[in-house]
Amino acid sequence: MIQKLKENIKNKIELYCKETYGVDVVAVVEQPKNLEMGDIAVPVFSLLKVLKKPLPEVVEIVKNLLLDSFEEIKEVNPTGGFLNIRVEKANMCLNILKSALDDNYGANELGKGKNVVIDYSSPNIAKSFSVGHLRSTMIGNSLKLIYRKCGYNVTGINYLGDWGTQFGKMMVAYEKWSNYDEVMADPINKLTDLYVRFGQEAKVNESLNDEARQAFRELELGDPKRYELWKWIREESLKESQQIYDLLGVNFDSYNGEAYYNDKMEPVVEELEKKNLLVTDQGAKIVQLGDDMPPALIKRSDGGSLYITRDLAAIFDRKNTYSFDKALYVVGNEQKLHFEQLKKVLEKMGYDYGDEIYHINFGLVLKDGKKMSTRDGNVKKLYDVLINAIDIAYKQIREKNPDLENAYEIATKVGCGAVVFNDLKNHRTLDYEFNENNMLKFEGQTGPYLQYTSVRIASIIKDTAIDTDNINTQLFEQEVYFELARTIGDFENNIKRACEENAPSVVAKYLLNLAQTFNKFYSQVKINSDDVVEKNTNYMIAKATRNVINEGLRLLGIDYVTKM
Ligand code: ARG
Repeated sequence: MIQKLKENIKNKIELYCKETYGVDVVAVVEQPKNLEMGDIAVPVFSLLKVLKKPLPEVVEIVKNLLLDSFEEIKEVNPTGGFLNIRVEKANMCLNILKSALDDNYGANELGKGKNVVIDYSSPNIAKSFSVGHLRSTMIGNSLKLIYRKCGYNVTGINYLGDWGTQFGKMMVAYEKWSNYDEVMADPINKLTDLYVRFGQEAKVNESLNDEARQAFRELELGDPKRYELWKWIREESLKESQQIYDLLGVNFDSYNGEAYYNDKMEPVVEELEKKNLLVTDQGAKIVQLGDDMPPALIKRSDGGSLYITRDLAAIFDRKNTYSFDKALYVVGNEQKLHFEQLKKVLEKMGYDYGDEIYHINFGLVLKDGKKMSTRDGNVKKLYDVLINAIDIAYKQIREKNPDLENAYEIATKVGCGAVVFNDLKNHRTLDYEFNENNMLKFEGQTGPYLQYTSVRIASIIKDTAIDTDNINTQLFEQEVYFELARTIGDFENNIKRACEENAPSVVAKYLLNLAQTFNKFYSQVKINSDDVVEKNTNYMIAKATRNVINEGLRLLGIDYVTKM
């Protein structure tokens, strides 16, 4: 709310200068260096030149303008070239808290009437679910929820990697070294093993790769036997991803993956051809993208399609189906070039929506300082990683609270919440260290810390009804109350910023700050005051805090708990 007031002040000054003096200014509104000075500070130096008046006069003008325009402003104290503003805390805080008790708190219309499609998770299902895909799943899921909260109409797409040479490899490996019963006995592990074995054997026997390419080519051309086998492998492979989605509570609006576009690429190739963009290069078809970028390979010499060909078909389909204003791709840093090429090809084809396409890139997950990978035995399986986190949470909860009912269910929320929060709290572009023990601590910058703060509040206020008309608003003049209320009031702004920057970490950091502010409040204020009105006021601010923590967690894809 202070944030809103700041914006309004800025706009007011700018508008005033425009209307009264016909000049464009950029007004500065900041937080005072020292909160004792006031709640908001407006330096007026930059206005002197444009208004062509001496400092005392400018100060007087702006001071009166602000006092006349905003009833939330209690006093304006000039010191030097600064106006230090104090706000009318009582009413402002009451309004913040009242709205924060509403379930919809933080919702806004930033994206009203706009469509966004988010392509996230999108694992290559013949391989085992990678760490990168786990990141994409969590970041994408949170962005989906944040965009929805900002009023966007969002479609979440799991663009399954269910097509491509890896399926050729899988089919060859299956036919050579396994059989139906063996796979069905333990599909996920068996298929993973087969894929790994293919990689090893192909190192010594190059021709296996040709066989795989051939097998995939037959699939592309519609060979019914191949299709049958592909369909079965796809289904079984998908189960691994589904296990992870179930644990994390993630879902999608569409599972149209690469295979879905198999019969939708020809028109794209024809269009490229018609627009004279295709060049033949050693039998393959490519689009030249200038000196700064390698060409895009559209068709192999054997006629087979490529990753970018499918992505082209997909982007046209998405534009037609969802008329997106924004299309996000939550994919690791290593595909930077791919998305640059994709945009460049669109541009060459004469489409102007390249700048509606965003590659939401992200960094690596490290284990003991090294890239964490599901392949090299560094990590077994991501599903097991999540289960391990749940186990650690379970033990901690049992220790703290031996009689807790539904302990496993709660541990699932705490364990997964810890993994998710640990991922989202750093800006997505940064690498981070995966340390189960640290991320599960109940103190520090963790998911469990937030869940625990929320539980603590629940255990104080229980189901007590709050009478919002019976509040001692004078308490809000105290710094410890005001700081908490104003932090609660900053929720919406942080959600918007997270949305504009495509950065769930903005919400995560905000929540940590809120929880810390609450815990300070808790250590300084006797919440269960003997004074009924004071107690009611304390309950109101505590409940508002819990609401915001819970809703903020939800936006990150984390469940809150009531006990732990
Ligand atoms: N399946 C791809 C991979 O794992 C990611 C797909 C991202 N989305 C896309 N439309 N290209 O590398």
